[in-house]
Amino acid sequence: MIRLCENTAVLATPETVYMFRVLPTGQLEHLYYGPRCLDAESESDSEILMDAEALGERKEFAPGNAISWSQENPSLAPEDLREEISSRGKGDIRDTFVELVHPDGGRTSDFLFDHMEVMKSWEPSSVLPSSCADPSDPVHGRADHLRVVLKEASGDSVLELFYHVYEDCDVITRSAKLTNTGDGKITVRRLMSMQLDFETDGFVMSVFTGAWAREMNRHDMKVEGGRVVNSTLAGVSSSRNNPFVMLWPSGTTEQAGLCYGMNLVYSGNHYESAEVNAFGKTRFLSGINPEGFAWALGPGESFESPEAFMTCSAGGFCGMSLHMQHFIREHIVRGEWKHRLRPILLNSWEAAYFDIDERKLLRLAKAGKEAGMELFVMDDGWFGNRSDDTKSLGDWSVNLKKIPGGLKKLSDEIHALGMDFGIWVEPEMVSPDSDLYRAHPDWAMKIPGRAHAEGRNQMMLDLANPEVTDALIGELSRLFASADINYVKWDFNRIMSDVYSPYVEKLHASDGTDVSVRQGETAHWFILGFYRMASELTRRFPHILFEGCAAGGGRFDPGVLCYFPQIWGSDDTDPVQRAVIQEGYSYGYPMSVVSAHVSASPNHQTLRETPLDTRFNVAAFGIFGYELNLCDLGKREFEEIKKQTELYKQWREVLQRGDFYRGRSGRIHEWTCVLPDRSSAVGMILQEKAIPNAPFEQFRAGGLDPKRRYHLYSLQQRRDVRCFGDLVNTVAPVHVRPGSFLHRMIASFVTMPGEQEEMNVTGALLMRAGVKLAPGYAGTGYNENTRYFADGCSRMYFMEGES
Ligand code: DGJ
Repeated sequence: MIRLCENTAVLATPETVYMFRVLPTGQLEHLYYGPRCLDAESESDSEILMDAEALGERKEFAPGNAISWSQENPSLAPEDLREEISSRGKGDIRDTFVELVHPDGGRTSDFLFDHMEVMKSWEPSSVLPSSCADPSDPVHGRADHLRVVLKEASGDSVLELFYHVYEDCDVITRSAKLTNTGDGKITVRRLMSMQLDFETDGFVMSVFTGAWAREMNRHDMKVEGGRVVNSTLAGVSSSRNNPFVMLWPSGTTEQAGLCYGMNLVYSGNHYESAEVNAFGKTRFLSGINPEGFAWALGPGESFESPEAFMTCSAGGFCGMSLHMQHFIREHIVRGEWKHRLRPILLNSWEAAYFDIDERKLLRLAKAGKEAGMELFVMDDGWFGNRSDDTKSLGDWSVNLKKIPGGLKKLSDEIHALGMDFGIWVEPEMVSPDSDLYRAHPDWAMKIPGRAHAEGRNQMMLDLANPEVTDALIGELSRLFASADINYVKWDFNRIMSDVYSPYVEKLHASDGTDVSVRQGETAHWFILGFYRMASELTRRFPHILFEGCAAGGGRFDPGVLCYFPQIWGSDDTDPVQRAVIQEGYSYGYPMSVVSAHVSASPNHQTLRETPLDTRFNVAAFGIFGYELNLCDLGKREFEEIKKQTELYKQWREVLQRGDFYRGRSGRIHEWTCVLPDRSSAVGMILQEKAIPNAPFEQFRAGGLDPKRRYHLYSLQQRRDVRCFGDLVNTVAPVHVRPGSFLHRMIASFVTMPGEQEEMNVTGALLMRAGVKLAPGYAGTGYNENTRYFADGCSRMYFMEGES
């Protein structure tokens, strides 16, 4: 709810309160954001005003040599104020929310309060995605929206601040809009989305960094006496630095302590900073990366910043993550697939890479169908002249040498098998060796007169140019309608360089915008072009399940998720490394938006060998699929995969709709996924590295109903005797040489039984004490009650609550 009491605004969710007030001088003083500290619903206005008084800072004298805002108000020093928004030039020398160049060349801005209003309905941005733009979201009738209007002292601009309160998941969103109300030209050097000023220091900022195939590694950085920045200039939101960050006072743990989480509904260059200033105050900012950015505003024109969202919990990282997971599931993801269970997918990429043809694909699909898979995806390599990554991006017509019957016939054949059909595209790119480039070289991003740079042998199309986006929308609409296509994987395999749009140049050459500003707009125009395409195509093809991808998790953010309900989390399919990546995502995203596949062993990215059940166990916690050549598998592995898909279908609802809880992380990864009504759950432990004479292992669940009893069980384990190497000789009557024919023969008849867990205990015991598991192999003996638990081994535990 939002409550306005005279000069004070209170935004409250069940667990949190956010407050600011208008100072008599017209600035907005941020008062508080944190766990509920007042009763926003029932307190009287005068009580709320007393709360605000108690939370506000009382200023009597100017601090030290700080700048006073005005001679009449010497004690008001912006440098020592918790500001709701900050601007350059009046003494606040911290990282700033808004920075403008005014028509006179001055860079000082002074935004003063004009009015604020609570609104019940909201007209969302027409160019940017946002939580408010989903008309089918039932919360919108109930969500509270706040609009605060500030006017620049010179009268040349108006700044609007927007707040939306989501009570169901304790999330508050913010964004801003700047309008040129004068008659000169203004340059926006930056307009952030969110600012949070805290009165104290001592925070840690956790950021999630990585690279191709190494996404979402958590790094904790102490914020002390300076600025800590998480940002990217890659032109896309991740995999280097995801826009999701956490801020927490040292001492917070997974289960307890204060934790703030922030994210940005934006897919381009972003910036998040935390800075401690001379007065021990911490400022957090998030928004479009100001580096290299500029935006020209003529009279009457506006610029809007993307929506940022924040949550806070006193329940540690876990409490914060649950809010984030819920918000993204309920208010970011939308469309037909929002709550629909996703099919088990089989993708051709790691099965055959570019070497695909109709015959191979159909063989693979048939095997997939037999193994229980439901959606067949033809990845890269099906169009133009695409036999490797050097050519044909942009030529979205099927290669008839590879697929002689065309797309329609292939899709019909796949459907005839009883599977859905999907394709791969990479629409924002063009290969220099393509018909598209030969026809429209000016559609690619490059700087006239300079050599351009390529990534994966490809260039980016100039999506700033509506002629280009219109053509792409037309071409992709034709493609998606040309066959019975149920799924599209939308890839993006390089980062931005040579940021230059002839279209933007032309646009501004005629309106007098300074040459130093024009191309500062291009990276953002590109993102707007992508959003226009994604929005139009998802509107035209609402039944298609779109999956975002950018060389794995290179564009993994809430902006993409407003259009595509799932994203390929990483090109790394090695389950041990993947566990780290998926855990990283789980801090800020629900597992229902992270797709994950079982692939071959040795793994193609790490060459690590891992058991098939571990590959399943890790992938099953994401949106599940396979990506390996099923036709090359032996009977035993194929049968195991059949059992996996059956098992997944039984537990799909829990795994796709459940809340994800992290337990231990590191040598052992411990996960639980629990249905929101806590009736059933799936848990897992995964061991990265075995140790001899290992201590007793236990499984501790998260998220269960403490009072309910759960039937916990695991599946009967059986291992190939070859996993025990020449230890076979400790029981074999004759000597067996490891790897010999005899060894293989024994393996084809004998499998070693392993432990099976079964118990009936309360949720409280499972969560607070943890259950002791059967002993793991520790170097001294093995029987059917022992857990075979070598490097990369894992177990799933199923928990059914008694009704
Ligand atoms: C990168 C993706 O992440 C892969 O899964 C695959 O689709 C390739 N691109 C295809 O070029």
